[in-house]
Amino acid sequence: MAVTPEIFVARTVQEWAQKTAAFMASVSEQAIQSTGRCLIALSGGSTPKTLYQTIRTPEWNTRFNWSRIVFLFGDDRCVAPEHPESNFGMAQTELFEPLRIPPDRIYRMKGEQQDPTAAAEDYEKTLRDLMQCPSPEFPRLDVILLGLGDDGHTASLFPRTAALQEQSKLVTVGHAPTGIKNRLTFTLGVLNRAAVVLFMVTGSGKAEMVRRVIESESDRSLPAARVSPDSGRLVWILDQAAAQQLTMKPLN
Ligand code: 6PG
Repeated sequence: MAVTPEIFVARTVQEWAQKTAAFMASVSEQAIQSTGRCLIALSGGSTPKTLYQTIRTPEWNTRFNWSRIVFLFGDDRCVAPEHPESNFGMAQTELFEPLRIPPDRIYRMKGEQQDPTAAAEDYEKTLRDLMQCPSPEFPRLDVILLGLGDDGHTASLFPRTAALQEQSKLVTVGHAPTGIKNRLTFTLGVLNRAAVVLFMVTGSGKAEMVRRVIESESDRSLPAARVSPDSGRLVWILDQAAAQQLTMKPLN
């Protein structure tokens, strides 16, 4: 049975970043209380940048127990870490370096590796070792952050691509129709095994797709609409512009 999405709406992008930072602080603390650490998979794209810039401020960074938080990535582009399109690169500049997060608590996808399939297999092994999760089991991450593309993609799971059909792997190669074509991405199996999946979406340009993914029965094949954690929370934190076409009432 599909999980009911929890929707929170903020008036402005700044308020959205604060609301998302508060949510992450509370769920990370819950995970640390129950297991001693919190594994967070970061999303790519531009939306997280404002969140990172908020979290690293003195007002917010003291609300996180950074020594117990481990960072992973839900997807990345097949580029070197210093490439402007690298999701790791953006997080390194906007979050890890300002907060001096030690490298041994950051697990990035090796986008620069020549063979994307081998890079995906390597990251799968990293994930299995880190979570002591033998094949064919799927690991349960504490928090997975996701964005939403204009075409309904999330992570690097694009419409009508083989990556969406992957049933046994944890990490696979995604193919984007535009921009950096080759990507590394978590599969739906990992996303739907998580304790908390948090979609972060802002801007009026995404309002139509937000409505289709959350409310439209006829759009269940959209990649983001197929994210429904088996026994976890599905949370959307939106700004008003992105939420403007929704009929569902937000929880806030
Ligand atoms: C990526 C992402 C992708 C992103 C969406 C939204 O690497 O591109 O993981 O899924 O989250 O495309 O991107 P924006 O935040 O830039 O709108």
